[in-house]
Amino acid sequence: MKEGLRLIKPSVSLKNEYSDMILEWEKTGEELIPWSLNLDSADFHLMIESLNGYSKGIGLPDGYVECSTYWLVNKNNRILGAIDIRHRLNEFLLFRGGHIGYGIRPSERKKGYACIMLSLALKECEIIGISNVLITCLKSNIGSAKTIIKNRGVLESEDIDNGEIFQRYWIEL
Ligand SMILES: CC(C)(COP(=O)(O)OP(=O)(O)OC[C@H]1O[C@@H](n2cnc3c(N)ncnc32)[C@H](O)[C@@H]1OP(=O)(O)O)[C@@H](O)C(=O)NCCC(=O)NCCS
Repeated sequence: MKEGLRLIKPSVSLKNEYSDMILEWEKTGEELIPWSLNLDSADFHLMIESLNGYSKGIGLPDGYVECSTYWLVNKNNRILGAIDIRHRLNEFLLFRGGHIGYGIRPSERKKGYACIMLSLALKECEIIGISNVLITCLKSNIGSAKTIIKNRGVLESEDIDNGEIFQRYWIEL
């Protein structure tokens, strides 16, 4: 494992590092994944408080389940990516969303970080008490599918959502 990489809970002390990552992402014009990266960070303290609450099921939007967010940081506290763990599956998550959503910032891709971030997150899943982890991705998202397979993901099915084929993988812990 690459030296000094770790998952941390969102922290007010990394405001500048977080803004730097979001700005970089927004410049590319691509969708911000995972979901938590889309929260309004103008009041950074409030965003961190909200994320803390979400992990305990407090203050969630309607229809959302408890969700813990982690950031992957290196030894210099640069944030490389983010991962959301949904603690349980509702009907939508069982079909399409899965337990986990993740993304690596554009400048840090193809360096093995997604694989490491997911493997660290699976340990958090165990602590939360999830024994079978569902992760879905678009069939066209080769990088994500490889990340899941390298973390022991087993393809269960393919389906169509919004005209695109997506895959559903399970990882037994
Ligand atoms: C998908 C994503 C998380 C992959 O992150 P990453 O850090 O680049 O992935 P890794 O470096 O750990 O690579 C994992 C594997 O996928 C391969 N890979 C990564 N990106 C790839 C791409 N765009 N096309 C083909 N293969 C790719 C890597 O080569 C590696 O395979 P290998 O070990 O056989 O060489 C990243 O591209 C991303 O954040 N995308 C936007 C958000 C997103 O799609 N999230 C997932 C939603 S399901």
